[in-house]
Amino acid sequence: MKNVIAIDGPGGAGKSTIAKLLAKKLNYLHLDTGAMYRAITLAALKEDVDFNNKKLLTKIAKKVNISFNENGEIFLNSKNVSEEIRSSKVNEHVSQTAAVKGVRDILVNKQQQLARNNKVVMDGRDITTVVLPEAEHKFFLTASLNERAKRRYEEVKSKGKNADFEEIKKSIARRDKLDSERKYSPLKQAEDAVLIDTTNLTIDEVLKKMISLIKGEF
Ligand code: CDP
Ligand code: CDP
Repeated sequence: MKNVIAIDGPGGAGKSTIAKLLAKKLNYLHLDTGAMYRAITLAALKEDVDFNNKKLLTKIAKKVNISFNENGEIFLNSKNVSEEIRSSKVNEHVSQTAAVKGVRDILVNKQQQLARNNKVVMDGRDITTVVLPEAEHKFFLTASLNERAKRRYEEVKSKGKNADFEEIKKSIARRDKLDSERKYSPLKQAEDAVLIDTTNLTIDEVLKKMISLIKGEF
């Protein structure tokens, strides 16, 4: 699949940051699929849904309208929810929403459609394995749990908010486990995806490495 770049990996590995920069550089569209699962979770929270109710979660996924603007901001039924989807309440429930097959079927379909109609850099958990296994370039970004927690901690602190490092680390580890052990489309490295451990790399170093690989300079 020409002009399609797929990136997977656990939270805090740098997927969204890198995908956004890469898309800008190549003049592609960036699609953060995690934001889509977050938007459905937000819609479910607003309706006070029991997150064990798979049928109802699927119904919400079917009903809501999710779209992105050219800056990668996400809209839920025409409302910009880019900030709201990062709340701790959404963090707490998003992996439950994402484990529901009905919800995944709807979003995967939408993601595949977007990749057919645009040049895209798409990041998530199952992009290289399920959504776009035929992507021209496939990457798996990762970093140690400690480093990923440190990055999230710094993000919260930089917004002037209070953060508890151990709590953040625990929450990331919990989501890692749920996402890797779920039945449908678990997080795993595709055999033909290039593995990049970003633990000791700067954003710029990761970006340079990926661009050289994309351009075939290695
Ligand atoms: O905040 P973080 O970067 O860790 O996560 P995210 O990319 O915003 O994704 C949030 C959650 O959505 C993940 O923990 C997964 O449960 C789910 N997700 C998924 O199942 N499949 C994807 N393609 C993307 C995200
Ligand atoms: O999308 P994912 O959850 O994989 O990560 P992200 O939302 O892009 O967050 C990664 C955070 O780590 C951001 O605050 C980046 O500035 C920082 N970071 C990085 O992405 N890559 C590095 N090599 C170093 C730091």
